[in-house]
Amino acid sequence: MILVTGGAGFIGANFVLDWLAATGEPVVNVDKLTYAGNLENLASLQGDKRHQFVQADIGDGVAISKLLLQHGVRAVVNFAAESHVDRSIHGPEEFIQTNVIGTFRLLEAVRAYWNGLEGEAKSNFRFLHVSTDEVYGTLSASDAAFSEDHNYEPNSPYSASKAASDHLVRAWHHTYGLPVLTTNCSNNYGPLHFPEKLIPLMIVNALAGKPLPIYGDGQQIRDWLYVRDHCSAIRRVLEGGGLGETYNVGGWNEQANIDIVKIVCTLLDELRPRTDGKTYAEQITYVADRPGHDRRYAIDARKIERELGWKPAETFETGIRKTVQWYLDNPGWVANVQSGSYRDWVQKQYSASADARVFT
Ligand code: NAD
Ligand code: DAU
Repeated sequence: MILVTGGAGFIGANFVLDWLAATGEPVVNVDKLTYAGNLENLASLQGDKRHQFVQADIGDGVAISKLLLQHGVRAVVNFAAESHVDRSIHGPEEFIQTNVIGTFRLLEAVRAYWNGLEGEAKSNFRFLHVSTDEVYGTLSASDAAFSEDHNYEPNSPYSASKAASDHLVRAWHHTYGLPVLTTNCSNNYGPLHFPEKLIPLMIVNALAGKPLPIYGDGQQIRDWLYVRDHCSAIRRVLEGGGLGETYNVGGWNEQANIDIVKIVCTLLDELRPRTDGKTYAEQITYVADRPGHDRRYAIDARKIERELGWKPAETFETGIRKTVQWYLDNPGWVANVQSGSYRDWVQKQYSASADARVFT
């Protein structure tokens, strides 16, 4: 069995669904259920004995230690984090608490567990830390894409906290020998993406007739990867990655924010035209820039392709169409997120359970 943290969030939930479909290996899913954790993301797994959900904080060493022992976990995949840059600017405390202190406590619980293993169980054990390209800082238009040996130059409270967590993971390998792997991925998009991030926010605002807020001049560049491709990359690194190695994961798909938003508008014009016959692009509104806004991210994903044979399966064209269609097909999910009622899901679905914090 593997233990996944943050598996009720956007990428974590996609990963749990992808993992069970691809491998069938059971998962214990540990998530604190912050505002970003949504158990409706995992509704299709209700009653599936291969998935056990536990509401807990990665900083709760006692809870994590108990779960590792109880399930004889063979690998940990750490998604749990505060993930939104704008929130980190307004309130960095939670980012330090979870991304830095939480990762430290998780590493300590895992190290104690791993020290107690023997033979193959010990040598085959893995701790995979899911990180971001934002730790490398920002690029100018002419700079080469981020490779794994690029300097760490984080610019936001979020990226600084992720950089700190990456350093802890690295140190736990070099000092204690913990068998770690780290992935640094570019911007993900796809189903289950919380509508505070660019792409889902634009889709839901467009459909609601609201403004589409573009920060600054909209020329900031991100490298977009369909979320299920990130999931397959993590599976591949877990399976074949070198101990202590880091792997950059990206979609070879650099685009300016304004172009992304125009693509979303064009797709919506085709799939759900406005009743007044106008284009959704008319809702685009330029607003104040994000403080310290990184200008460009780009991933050089040649190492993971060369060493592990991983490549993204989706092009941006196919992935963004699937994504827009998913939001059109799931208005209930969007409404529950927007009203906040997704947070009552555990209560509604599992109130009869003996321990409402643990269920399958
Ligand atoms: P998300 O915000 O959607 O989900 C984070 C999940 O972690 C939530 O379910 C939340 O409840 C849980 N969580 C938060 N604090 C916790 C704690 N202390 N203990 C246990 N659970 C906790 O984030 P996401 O976009 O799915 O990102 C997942 C991971 O991938 C993060 O580590 C992020 O840094 C990394 N990442 C994200 C992207 C991206 O584009 N979204 C790209 C590269 C890397
Ligand atoms: O690069 C990987 C990172 O991608 C992850 O580590 C983060 O967890 C994830 O949130 C994401 O960070 P970004 O800041 O790049 O994503 P976001 O969707 O918040 O913004 C994408 C770009 O769009 C960014 O340049 C800011 C801009 N933006 C965003 C919002 C929400 C807008 O112009 N308007 C908006 O309303």
